[in-house]
Formats: sequence, structure tokens, C-alpha cells
Amino acid sequence: RGKRAFIAGVADDNGYGWAIAKALAAAGAEILVGTWVPALNIFETSLRRGKFDESRKLPDGSLMDIVKVYPLDAVYDSPDDVPEDVKSNKRYAGSSNWTVKEVVESVKNDFGSIDILVHSLANGPEVTKPLLETSRRGYLAAISASSYSYVSLLQHFLPIMNPGGASISLTYIASERAIPGYGGGMSSAKAALESDTRVLAFEAGRKGKIRVNTISAGPLGSRAAKAIGFIEKMIEYSYVNSPLQKELLADEVGNTAAFLVSSLASAITGSTVYVDNGLNTMGIAI
Ligand code: NAI
Repeated sequence: RGKRAFIAGVADDNGYGWAIAKALAAAGAEILVGTWVPALNIFETSLRRGKFDESRKLPDGSLMDIVKVYPLDAVYDSPDDVPEDVKSNKRYAGSSNWTVKEVVESVKNDFGSIDILVHSLANGPEVTKPLLETSRRGYLAAISASSYSYVSLLQHFLPIMNPGGASISLTYIASERAIPGYGGGMSSAKAALESDTRVLAFEAGRKGKIRVNTISAGPLGSRAAKAIGFIEKMIEYSYVNSPLQKELLADEVGNTAAFLVSSLASAITGSTVYVDNGLNTMGIAI
């Protein structure tokens, strides 16, 4: 049997989640995705209408099959956590069972188990504000959506993950070097995510023989990144200053993800793996 992957954080064909889904599908995995509730309608409609067919093409010419799309809001663990205004919001009211616990129950009922968990989501409402101007609420929201969401997903999925399975998340170097513009506590959230990767690798390794790694990716003009506002500048900076002066392709992150969750990487866990054309290794560039 091929491996089954759940990829949280796919809502269009531009981001890292989509590229990871494709790389895993090309390697023979069955693909389930978790899509943010407010983005669900447009994503499913676009899928159905064939808007993504060009970018669904795999190297062998076939089209990636997304076996099931689950609505997900990874900021809520169970229905008790959902505030009234969200419950009654019409974008949410049209879907059901989208808290982390309920999504895992649905996947369990539908498929029994998974082998691969991918976390490719982040959100920071005050990302455009410097840390010095960030509110407590904004900071905690960034941590909740971008860091704890991973703890929660792994916590809930682990019992239905087959031993030998693996999990990855996506991080950014703003966790360890100051990147002006990546604000709102998002740099803090990525630092937490990388630290948690080490602790969760230990715990999930011992508890369920599951490997846990994170990919520190270079800049990509995804929907989320465009919301930050300086992504084009970062892409240009990276191009100019990296050891490898080439465009960074989402597929290169996808391929690394496919490697990390495969048995080729069977001794790699707790690692932050850079896929950034080498930019992280530079001090100054000339
Ligand atoms: P993206 O927009 O394709 O993916 C982010 C996804 O998160 C979106 O689909 C969005 O709907 C979803 N999301 C937001 N809040 C959510 C919630 N509460 N519950 C469920 N889903 C939610 O953008 P991108 O850039 O591909 O982001 C994927 C990951 O890659 C993120 O962790 C991001 O921080 C990371 N990353 C991105 C870089 C870039 O330059 N684009 C660089 C390094 C890391």
C-alpha cells in the first residue's frame, strides 16, 4: 500500500503546501488536505472547475488526485474552543467538524490511519507591525495559529499515525536572525516551532516511532507571503546574495519534504533543514 499523507494548509496552487502535495503524490502517496475554513469554498470550486488542472500535472503526465479536502481551522482544538461570533459567521456555519480534534476523528473514520503529517500554515494578524508595536493579542494569535497549531495537529494525529511515519512543518530564518518586516510575533512563532520540532521529535519518536523535522524555506511569493508586503524584496535579496543565484522553486521545497518523510531520511529527526539556495550560510555577500 502507498503512504497516506494529510497536508494542513493548502488553499490554492501557489504555496508550499501545494508543492509538497504534488511531490508526495508523484512519489505515490495518497493525498488528503486540510483547508482553512474561510478559504474552503473558493478552493473546492476552483478544483472542481479545473482551474488547477495545469498545476496538478505530475512528472508522469497524470494529474494529482486530492482524495479528500477537509475544512480545518487549526486555531481551535475542539468545538468548546470556538467563540460564538466564529460559530455564527456564515463562512464557518456552512461547514462542520473543522476543529483539529474533529478533523482527526473524520480522517480516522474515513481512512483509519495516516503515515505523513504536513503542517504548512501560518497566520499572524499583526505581521506587518514591528515587534515593538505588536499587541499581546496579536502576538498570541501568531503563536496560536503558527506554532501551537502544529503541537495540536501532531498531538491529535499521532494516535492514528502508523509507526515509521513522519511529520514536517515549514519555518523561516526570521526565527534566528533579525528580519525587519517579519513582525507581529511571527519571528517568535517560528522560533517556537523550531524548538518544538526538537522536543516533539523526541516525544513522538519515543511514543510512536514518528520522525519530526522542519524545513526552513527561502522566500516564495505565496498568498500568505504577499500579505506580509515585502516578499518581492526578499526574493530579490535572496537572488542577489545567495550562493546559488537562481529562483527558488516551491517544487524544491516539495522535493525536500518528500525526501524527509520517506525512508531515505530514516535517521533524520528533530532537524531544521534549509531549502533556501544557501542564503542562511552567508554573513555578508559581495
Ligand atoms: P500559503 O498561503 O500557501 O499557506 C498558508 C496557509 O495557511 C493558507 O492556505 C491559509 O489558508 C492557511 N491558514 C491560515 N490560518 C489557518 C488556520 N487557522 N487553520 C488552517 N489553515 C490556516 O503560504 P505559504 O507561504 O506557502 O505558507 C506555508 C508555510 O510556509 C507557512 O508555515 C509559512 O510560514 C512557511 N514559509 C513561507 C515562506 C514564504 O516565503 N512564502 C518562507 C518560509 C516559510
